[in-house]
Amino acid sequence: MKKLYEKYPFTARPSYERHPDYARLMLELSGIEAPIWQNCLELGCGRGSYLNCLAKFNPNKTFVGIDINKPAIEEAQTIAKDLGLENITFYCEDFANLKSSLKTTFFDTILTYGLYSWIEAEKRGRLLEVISEKLSPKGFAIISHNLLPGWKARGEIAEILKESCQTPAQVRAKLSDVGSSSFHGLRLSEEATNILSEASDGFIVHELLNANLDATSSYDFRIEAEKLDLHVLDPDSEKLLKGIPELTGFEARTIRNAILLKERKPLNEKKSLIDNCWFTTKFVPGGNLEQPTQFFSPNGKEYYFKDKAVQNILKQLAAAWPRSLSFETLCENNKEPNEVRKSLQQLITGRTIEGFLKELPLTSTISDKPKAHEISQNPSLFPGLITNPRFEFVKLTPGAQDALKLCDGTRTRKEICEELKVSKEDLKTLLELATEMALIEA
Ligand SMILES: C[S@@+](CC[C@H](N)C(=O)[O-])C[C@H]1O[C@@H](n2cnc3c(N)ncnc32)[C@H](O)[C@@H]1O
Repeated sequence: MKKLYEKYPFTARPSYERHPDYARLMLELSGIEAPIWQNCLELGCGRGSYLNCLAKFNPNKTFVGIDINKPAIEEAQTIAKDLGLENITFYCEDFANLKSSLKTTFFDTILTYGLYSWIEAEKRGRLLEVISEKLSPKGFAIISHNLLPGWKARGEIAEILKESCQTPAQVRAKLSDVGSSSFHGLRLSEEATNILSEASDGFIVHELLNANLDATSSYDFRIEAEKLDLHVLDPDSEKLLKGIPELTGFEARTIRNAILLKERKPLNEKKSLIDNCWFTTKFVPGGNLEQPTQFFSPNGKEYYFKDKAVQNILKQLAAAWPRSLSFETLCENNKEPNEVRKSLQQLITGRTIEGFLKELPLTSTISDKPKAHEISQNPSLFPGLITNPRFEFVKLTPGAQDALKLCDGTRTRKEICEELKVSKEDLKTLLELATEMALIEA
């Protein structure tokens, strides 16, 4: 397996749902005190594509990444150096047997993605044990695992592929043929299309051809964690699930990020993280724009929201894009803070909006000296892809990437046009695109 990771590296995508601050928000929304974190450990960090991003965005916190794959760790170290990071250390180690220098360190937050369901079955218990051992008493962990029953279709596809394919090219050919082949059922062909739309070679090898691959129901996962005195918070289930129709899709998800805690301390009602948060949405209204009930998700799916307070919040957030709006601002038009709070909880758990612990430094107006967000300037982090302050990947054309490199807040648009030898109109189009992708700073 180690060899397979060397031949087909796997690249994690930064994601809002894998961010410790997202976990804090979900804890708070579930009535549990959300501890502040200072240090963070990632087990199975691969090339550090996720952890380096976190470290760059959080210069006052410290980070440690562990992976068994030496070339991956070396690449992670090079990227950290290129980014000038001094708050991150990577070690090449087996998580099951951490070396002495880490033995005495405890972490406020531990992250592990693509490990639990991907390793040998007998090592899964050890992974939970290590989390339990290394977590500080008030700490929390975010751990991804393949989720049953949603994973069934993908699992079935993986079974079929493992029989007949050895390489990513063979998998691609087989999946492209799904519509007309003996692959049966709409769900399977939909899943095959989903996989194909995203699949890198690394993804195909590790998510479909890996012999260890397995999935767990949220119930069974909870039982395993509780054996080690770890509480599981399922933001998607528990009390948040009740009465939220948008969440009925939870069990259909193929993967989820579960939050683990050593201690469940009830929230002191006087403090509310949500009141200090900033919110954004990528949904856009459709139909009657005065009082829209219908909204479109980024991938064009149509959603209906009956509640007027929810409609108003979504309308306001959509109009502000890419800026984020504070709880206070949202209360100005919606008067009753409790109603606003309830609507925000519903929208966050339904993944319609996102909440951040600080204002996103973004703008919708392009100044004469445009400035791209600092992290988008470093090309070595993920070739061809750029991370924005919303913690997501965006893909830009090479021309747009070249333009962004010159947008450092000191050059005028005229100077950028001259350096790039492009027209004023072309630069305007590129900058509008970058603004739309949440890359231009206020
Ligand atoms: C599917 S990849 C996920 C990588 C990264 N977390 C991400 O989300 O992109 C799994 C990673 O776990 C690492 N890994 C597997 N077994 C490990 C072990 N026993 N100790 C440490 N890392 C391990 C692999 O080398 C690989 O980089």
